Amino acid sequence: MQKLLIKGKRELIGKISISGSKNASLPILAASILADEVKLKNVPLVKDIFTMITLLKFIGLEINISKKKNSLIIQNKNKNIKTIAPYKLVKTMRAGVLVLGSLLTKYKKAKVSLPGGCAIGTRPVDLHLFALKKLGAKIKIKGGYIIAEAKRGLRGTVINFPSISVGATENALLAAFKAKGQTTLKNCAIEPEILDLISFLNKLGGKIKISGRKILINSSEMIKKKISHKVIFDRIEFGTYLIAGVLIGKKITIDKIETKFVKNEINILNRIGANIDVKKNSITIGKNKKLKRLDITTKPYPGFPTDLQAQFMVLMTQVNGKSQIKENIFENRFMHVPELRRMGAKIEIKNKTAFIEGPTKLNGAEVMATDLRASVSLVLAGLIAENRTIINRIYHLDRGYEFLERKLKKCKANIKRV
Ligand code: UD1
Repeated sequence: MQKLLIKGKRELIGKISISGSKNASLPILAASILADEVKLKNVPLVKDIFTMITLLKFIGLEINISKKKNSLIIQNKNKNIKTIAPYKLVKTMRAGVLVLGSLLTKYKKAKVSLPGGCAIGTRPVDLHLFALKKLGAKIKIKGGYIIAEAKRGLRGTVINFPSISVGATENALLAAFKAKGQTTLKNCAIEPEILDLISFLNKLGGKIKISGRKILINSSEMIKKKISHKVIFDRIEFGTYLIAGVLIGKKITIDKIETKFVKNEINILNRIGANIDVKKNSITIGKNKKLKRLDITTKPYPGFPTDLQAQFMVLMTQVNGKSQIKENIFENRFMHVPELRRMGAKIEIKNKTAFIEGPTKLNGAEVMATDLRASVSLVLAGLIAENRTIINRIYHLDRGYEFLERKLKKCKANIKRV
């Protein structure tokens, strides 16, 4: 099994270009089922994207990948489509459940495996099913599968989500695309990745408008045959390298971003006194000394993202004073804490809140990655720790970080995969 070896305390200097967003690419790939031909640019070629490609190919789509250009051409010209998402694919990547909305819209039926739990929590799909039922889909659960049908097509309606979910908002958008009449989605997730999905669907001929947490969808019959779309940047990858820069950067520039989507992260860094220079499409981080403590609560966008919680926790081990993180989105998302403690971090957990003492010297150790974002927090810890850190189970990292070692090595980090 592959491991990462990191020798810490090497100052980072250079430029890191951010890849396209995994979490925007996945729903857009699911939405590609609706079109005849789609060209997608700026797709990060990470494990989760390949799993989605395998799923779409299983369904019957043809996909050509240009690795050099990070682009995909997806064609749906097959007459023998399988409207099924099998267990073996959905269990490794929950976003597989997003084909449900597209299959119902285009083929009026779908059989999609229930994703089950995952390391960070139970992660049910009740909100996805709630929205689809409201749109008129008949849904049964049998043998671990969601069996959905809408023989006469779906019908527009008002859907008021009892709580905010990214995936459920995406599935509802895909299902409501052609639903007869008008659909109003209330209390929606409004992450930048959802805005990117809406922009993609509108290029396909959709009539979708967003205002605050409300999305209005007018039925669209007109699906453009061929479209091209460039996926938005990965704001979580950006936030990860931003922290690397603040922790151990001599001078790091991060580009290929849109800073308007990451105001929260930038505001926090300004508040703690970080040395950052923010431009519209890039940010430069200089050397930092004596940063102030900080408190964070994870919330749906525009609140602070749960996907950056573990990385900011590593930053908290280096600032002055006791910081706090309250995790409000997932119930089991502090799995990086025991591993960080093994490296010398002083962290206590009480219910949903972690209390982190800083500044604390970290020492390299052999640690284990437990999920995607927890793993990358161990990489950050390894970069600032004395001596050598060995990270096991790095397949988690490969699910979502494109060219991680290459990007860090280019900035003089001592990191290698063995
Ligand atoms: C997406 C992101 C993930 C991110 C999360 C929250 C993708 C591929 N993944 O996941 O990286 O951490 O948003 O920003 O985009 N919930 C229910 N019932 C449901 C659906 C969700 O109770 O039917 C709960 C979840 O358990 C969780 C909360 O709602 O506690 C938010 O989850 P959700 O926004 O749906 O996350 P995902 O779309 O799975």
